[in-house]
Amino acid sequence: MRCLLITGAAGFIGSHTSLVLLNAGYKLFLLDNFSNSSPIALERVGRLSNLSNEKVKERMTIVNGDIRDFSLLENIFLSAEKNGEKIISVFHFAGLKAVGESFEKAFDYWDNNVGGTIALLKAMEKYSCRSIVFSSSATVYGTKNNKALIETDPISPINPYGLTKATIEKMLANIAGCHSTRVAKQTSPRGWRIACLRYFNPAGAHPSGEIGENPKDIPNNLFPLINQVAIEKKESITIFGQDWPTPDGTGIRDYVHVMDIAEGHKAALDTLISSNPQLLIINLGSGEGTSVLDLIKIFKLSIGIDIPYRFGPRRNGDTAISLANPGEALKFIKWKAKRNIEEICRDSWNWQHQNPMGYK
Ligand SMILES: NC(=O)c1ccc[n+]([C@@H]2O[C@H](COP(=O)([O-])OP(=O)(O)OC[C@H]3O[C@@H](n4cnc5c(N)ncnc54)[C@H](O)[C@@H]3O)[C@@H](O)[C@H]2O)c1
Repeated sequence: MRCLLITGAAGFIGSHTSLVLLNAGYKLFLLDNFSNSSPIALERVGRLSNLSNEKVKERMTIVNGDIRDFSLLENIFLSAEKNGEKIISVFHFAGLKAVGESFEKAFDYWDNNVGGTIALLKAMEKYSCRSIVFSSSATVYGTKNNKALIETDPISPINPYGLTKATIEKMLANIAGCHSTRVAKQTSPRGWRIACLRYFNPAGAHPSGEIGENPKDIPNNLFPLINQVAIEKKESITIFGQDWPTPDGTGIRDYVHVMDIAEGHKAALDTLISSNPQLLIINLGSGEGTSVLDLIKIFKLSIGIDIPYRFGPRRNGDTAISLANPGEALKFIKWKAKRNIEEICRDSWNWQHQNPMGYK
């Protein structure tokens, strides 16, 4: 049976992608230290899959542990081998992801994100697994961009989090024997199959409302904040800046449904395993921009709830517009976001109101 190792599997994007991969017929090793997630997410992934309970047990191996633990990683590859199976690719979601926190805890970010990836790549090399789909981010592009971003744009992250992502991309390019992280597709002379997927603003939830975004601490992203106001956990949201050079003065972002992101991962894997060794660096965004004020209006129209807000000063490191040019995704992995902003609002709210306390 074809096996995959998913790191950070219980997290927001990992759980939705695990569901898509499970339904696509793979056997999954699901590794997470649950530092920002709950094992309940993985129970629900099993329940939501189209498999019987017995098959779920056969196909999902949950491992509670850290990606920096090399011997644990070895045990995972060895346990597949013992069953006569092989892990054909890794999906690497595990990492720390809060931009603000990355300034306070810079060492933790380098240790977890870069150190963890090095341990993972060492284990992959030892057990001849040379395929990885890596969670990169639009933050690698930096701030000076007011047009749709394309993979050939300069890389200039401005916070430790973005720097760790850009560094991992460069490390993966070096390992593949490729020269640049500013080209969407390159042949790998070293026989690696790698996709770095630069996510824009993943949001929404599985339409069942069973799995969704469940930040352990204070949410950083706009959707969990809006949802918390909608369920009256918070009084209002603060909009950082009303004087950006955009039509209504608030920041414009490219929100992309998490199920689209999950399907983008499967599309990347399908491409990697059916082609010659290559390095792909691909934007996962919808190409559609929504301002903060527009989002509040759309939320009200789709859900019927008013979101009180107040304006605060611009945040350091924010940008007026972050928008993907998704053309290379369509060209190289045949993927395009299918769900619109109304569906994102509806599904994220569905998750939040069914689970006001997250997975607790
Ligand atoms: N959500 C976003 O807006 C966004 C945008 C761009 C990129 N990304 C990247 O995508 C990936 C997944 O993001 P997410 O939103 O699902 O985040 P998440 O925090 O929900 O998921 C990350 C998972 O990794 C686990 N983890 C963290 N460190 C670990 C370690 N050392 N060992 C094992 N498990 C560990 C956490 O417990 C969590 O379950 C991250 O690498 C993130 O940087 C996310």
